[in-house]
Amino acid sequence: MVGIYLSGTGNTRHCIEKFLSDSDAAAKCIPIEDEAAVEALRENGEVVLAYPTQFSNVPYMVKDFVRKHEKLWSGKRVFLITTMGAFSGDGTGCCARILKKYGAVISGGMQIRMPDAVCDSKMLKKSLAENRRIVREADAKIEKAVSDIRNSGKYPREGLSFPAHLAGLFGQRLWFYGKTTGYSGKLKISDACIGCGLCASNCPMGNLRIEDGRAVNLGRCAMCYRCISTCPQQAITLLGKKVVEQCRCEKYEGTSD
Ligand SMILES: Cc1cc2nc3c(=O)[nH]c(=O)nc-3n(C[C@H](O)[C@H](O)[C@H](O)COP(=O)(O)O)c2cc1C
Repeated sequence: MVGIYLSGTGNTRHCIEKFLSDSDAAAKCIPIEDEAAVEALRENGEVVLAYPTQFSNVPYMVKDFVRKHEKLWSGKRVFLITTMGAFSGDGTGCCARILKKYGAVISGGMQIRMPDAVCDSKMLKKSLAENRRIVREADAKIEKAVSDIRNSGKYPREGLSFPAHLAGLFGQRLWFYGKTTGYSGKLKISDACIGCGLCASNCPMGNLRIEDGRAVNLGRCAMCYRCISTCPQQAITLLGKKVVEQCRCEKYEGTSD
């Protein structure tokens, strides 16, 4: 088994690492931007694919990866994990439908609520204690799923049903569809940028470059918020105008409130 994931602020990485370490300690977990992900996909019959829900859809970078390697999915057993701040009708189903077209067998899916990642919006922001509680609940949900799979062979099937499809479509996708049909060119870098290069070295898309001491957006943003959540100058925004909170999963992984 191998895990392949996209994660911006660390939520999805947290969930897939927990799922894999609880179910198969020997399984590797590889970020989608790592070249090793393709070789791992080729070599493994069982794949856990995980990503954050974006507007109740699959991030374009993940769709792009799935489509680019369409020939490698045939006959694979794929378990999908999506993370979300609040709602994702068929966050797993959207990708499951593409994977099935390429011959994959979907063993199940989990849609896990995690802290919100949209650092430049006040919506869905929670206290530290609340975010820690959300992460603890996510951990408990993963533990139960792994135990059910092990004890009864019963895989969760969240987001894979027809009603879930309708909920995702009418609840969000119809209104926001355009946001996930390509990479975004809308990343903004303010004058506060000091050209430290952290964003450029962390970006899963290689979308940022340092030129003349400033970060430059090359117009292929995966909307993952990794750069926004780590910029020491809080100089980067995407959907909003100002950084409200630099959400990083590790802040919420502590056990005490
Ligand atoms: C561009 C964008 C769109 C999002 N859309 C949704 C959404 O439709 N529903 C939802 O519940 N959460 C949404 N979220 C929240 C993330 O899915 C959630 O915080 C996720 O756990 C982030 O995972 P990551 O840290 O692995 O990137 C969105 C986040 C971003 C950045």
